Amino acid sequence: MFTTVRPQQPSTFTKPNLIPNDLFKAINQLKKDLNAVILAHYYQDPDIQDIADFIGDSLALSQQAASTNAEVIVFAGVHFMAETAKILNPDKLVLLPDVNAGCSLADSCPPEAFSQFKAQYPGCIVVSYINCSAEIKAMSDIICTSSNAVKIVNQLPKDRPIIFAPDQNLGRYVMEQTGRDLILWQGSCIVHETFSEKKIVQLKIEHPQAEIIAHPECEPSVLRHANYIGSTTALLKYSQQNPSEVFIVATEPGIIHQMAKEAPNKQFIPAPAIDNCACNECPHMRLNTIEKLYSAMKYQQPEITMDEDIRLAALRPIQRMLEMS
Ligand code: 13P
Ligand code: SF4
Repeated sequence: MFTTVRPQQPSTFTKPNLIPNDLFKAINQLKKDLNAVILAHYYQDPDIQDIADFIGDSLALSQQAASTNAEVIVFAGVHFMAETAKILNPDKLVLLPDVNAGCSLADSCPPEAFSQFKAQYPGCIVVSYINCSAEIKAMSDIICTSSNAVKIVNQLPKDRPIIFAPDQNLGRYVMEQTGRDLILWQGSCIVHETFSEKKIVQLKIEHPQAEIIAHPECEPSVLRHANYIGSTTALLKYSQQNPSEVFIVATEPGIIHQMAKEAPNKQFIPAPAIDNCACNECPHMRLNTIEKLYSAMKYQQPEITMDEDIRLAALRPIQRMLEMS
């Protein structure tokens, strides 16, 4: 197990006085010194994606976290993702560059209220989207992500009712795809509910050859216009493989960095928000910066910790998901 005396992190974050090249070099050196792996979600800033050892959707990131030999996991994503890595790796140091990087969807499902909701439906199988807290995972039978939700619900016994939490839009999409009647927790993501159907239709009129690709966390009014619906990884693959040269992308625009890298000759248009704002960028994901990532590695903080009973209870449904994926 990794043991070291941790240098003291300044109480408030101070921007390291390093130019970008030096910062990349310093991070790479810290990676070697700590035997660390940097896992990043597609919604992170481009420079974080560029320095990461692995970039992926929530399923791929949890699979990486489950299989890594590194002693330190630096999770460039949001809290529930780093928490999942810690649940799978209790003896490893798991760092989140900004400890306040939460998730509106996870926050839309408070444990106490969910426990009362669950009590109303005895005998249900509880399927929870990975975008939830460890406490909600601990109350669940199985976890899913946007890339395996349909596959997992399809494997559940037909004679048992199912609660699906916390994302109602993904839940509705899974209902459509599986023909199963799910009891939905009414949560949603502030980013994916911000897309304007009207502006997307307008864009499609301006670019009739464009494919509309959307994440299943989007509202039905957006999903019904989509040529393809999938997790971030699925959207990335589709944009590479589909012959179209223009894509209207209805998910957090951070993914466009990888899309453009993989297919530099194609055009990727971020789906606009209802208001004239940058609300299609996740304010939680974007709290992480390359400077904070460096600082987290240098001071080995902020560290993800959790109660062992909750961890063990949350581990079972995550393991079930990894087996069924
Ligand atoms: P995926 O990358 O698993 O599709 O999830 C998207 C998301 O909203 C993560 O917070
Ligand atoms: Fe949560 Fe939505 Fe941000 Fe994903 S994009 S982390 S679901 S708030």
